[in-house]
Amino acid sequence: MTDDLATLQAETEAALAAAADLRALDAVRVGTLGKSGALTALLKGLGAVPAEQRKERGAAVNRLKATLEAAIEARRVALDAAALEARLAAERLDVTLPPRPFPPAGAEQGAIHPIARTIEEIVAIFGAMGFALAEGPDIEGDWYNFGALNIPDHHPARQDHDTFYVPAGPDGRRPVLRTHTSPVQIRTMLGQEPPIRVIVPGRTWRADHDATHSPMFHQVEGLVIDRGISLGHLKGCLVDFLRAFFGISDLPVRFRASYFPFTEPSMEVDIGWNRKTGELGKGGDWLEILGSGMVHPRVLANCGIDPREFQGFAFGMGIERITMLKHGIPDLRPFYESDVRWLRHYGTSPLSPATLAEGV
Ligand code: PHE
Repeated sequence: MTDDLATLQAETEAALAAAADLRALDAVRVGTLGKSGALTALLKGLGAVPAEQRKERGAAVNRLKATLEAAIEARRVALDAAALEARLAAERLDVTLPPRPFPPAGAEQGAIHPIARTIEEIVAIFGAMGFALAEGPDIEGDWYNFGALNIPDHHPARQDHDTFYVPAGPDGRRPVLRTHTSPVQIRTMLGQEPPIRVIVPGRTWRADHDATHSPMFHQVEGLVIDRGISLGHLKGCLVDFLRAFFGISDLPVRFRASYFPFTEPSMEVDIGWNRKTGELGKGGDWLEILGSGMVHPRVLANCGIDPREFQGFAFGMGIERITMLKHGIPDLRPFYESDVRWLRHYGTSPLSPATLAEGV
């Protein structure tokens, strides 16, 4: 091989070794084999070589061309493999990573607030019965909170609710801080076609404050709308829920006739307990725990549902109340005081989520 060919080979091989990625490699390839590449120039120059040397020179240049093509290809394969390796390393998900100690050593352990915990449990139990979760706004239109629920303007039930009003909107009606979760019944029925099965936990508001009442509290609403729904479905559903929630498989449950404007017939639901000891399930006393009933035909009609075709039941209960009963918490006020000693005592570890494995 002549000197110029040996030099070109050495230079190209050095440049290939130095090419750290595919772009650098391509620059070397173009500089060698491209239209104005060094080797292409040699091939073009063959015509000017004296005839007696041309054959030998042509063979040598073509050998060098094959050598450099092979070297470029080899480098490309190596760089491709390295790029893939780098990607695999960067995107690796190590599923064998051991769990981190929780909480980290020395840190304070947080706890799930009893209200949040009760909501999780309610959602787990009703979720297993096929209920979906629904939500509505805390500041509610008068029609949703009262009117559509068959509570007209001068109905005495409006007074019972000790409503917080918000300054009137353009329609002259004062929005309210919702006094119950029942307006979400209306929103759900307006928003979807039956069959409907929803559970609605949320904040509610009434101007009332003592050891068992807070101006802000929580309720959970339930609503089922379908063809052929009867009081039997309501009773079965609530008995199952109460027994699962309190973890007492033979908890006595009593349905007592009552009145709500938006259900007909209406029933208050009581559970058996011992008034003196506070023990649930035994003792012969009754404790009111929730309101329920068959959705009033007028409420169905207000939501564009034909009451001759669809029936349903609804219920609503206070979350604080059932939480206090379940855990023997005597006073409502500490629920909102954020006292970490209380939270540590009544809170639940975030590592024990509400599941149906607990016997629900
Ligand atoms: N909204 C009623 C209350 O706050 C409870 C209820 C809900 C009753 C649904 C019947 C049906 O007291």
